[in-house]
Amino acid sequence: MLELVGSPGYETISKPSEYVMRWVEAKIAEKGAMNFGELGVGIGATTLAVAEKMSGKGEMHLFDFERRVDELGDDLKKRGFDNITTYANTERHWDSYHWNLSKLIREGKGEFFDVIYIDGAHTYLHDALAFFMCDRLLKVGGIIVFDDWYWAFTNSKWMRDTRDQFMTEEQAEALQIKMFLEELVNDHVGYEQVEKLTVYRKIAGTSRSSENVIGASQIGSRLKNLFSR
Ligand SMILES: C[S@@+](CC[C@H](N)C(=O)[O-])C[C@H]1O[C@@H](n2cnc3c(N)ncnc32)[C@H](O)[C@@H]1O
Repeated sequence: MLELVGSPGYETISKPSEYVMRWVEAKIAEKGAMNFGELGVGIGATTLAVAEKMSGKGEMHLFDFERRVDELGDDLKKRGFDNITTYANTERHWDSYHWNLSKLIREGKGEFFDVIYIDGAHTYLHDALAFFMCDRLLKVGGIIVFDDWYWAFTNSKWMRDTRDQFMTEEQAEALQIKMFLEELVNDHVGYEQVEKLTVYRKIAGTSRSSENVIGASQIGSRLKNLFSR
């Protein structure tokens, strides 16, 4: 898989995300080691750069279709990275990384990740759910990076021949990541937007089992601030 990085036809997925690299570097500088999750690995451009930066410290958890993530996991292991766990899902219409995330939540993984990169389906259906699931698995202070909020199916070759089986024309034209970030994440009390429509920091736990669960008093004071603006 990694041999495809930089090769013709793969230009758009051959460059590591600068946002991910910035926040991975910041976390490593802050804590020495960190745990990283990536939903949608492509051909591994960002994954490889992050693996090199982490240099074997902390854990990497990678989610994608079986044909991609298993091969990438093998490639990384051959390069000496043994801190990788892969989670493969099928290409059945309603399958996605959400199913493996659900297993991690059920197994009690808890608030484990420092940085999670959500760069998979780019649909409201998959990725808004993935955000709420990742929230359960992210440490307070942890970072979620979203890819390309300005991306729409209609301008891409991805699923061009099959997309009408999966979505309406309106959905193909919509900026689906931007939509759910504006509707569900930007004013989420547990998150602050750090880089516009791309990087969000978890500032408080929002489940009862979370550390630093957001209290009624904090919500009250935030509402007061909001209304006094
Ligand atoms: C843009 S690429 C990811 C690029 C990668 N994050 C990087 O920075 O190099 C999107 C990835 O999402 C995966 N993906 C899309 N829909 C998916 C689904 N339903 N389940 C699992 N993976 C999916 C694709 O297979 C593809 O590898």
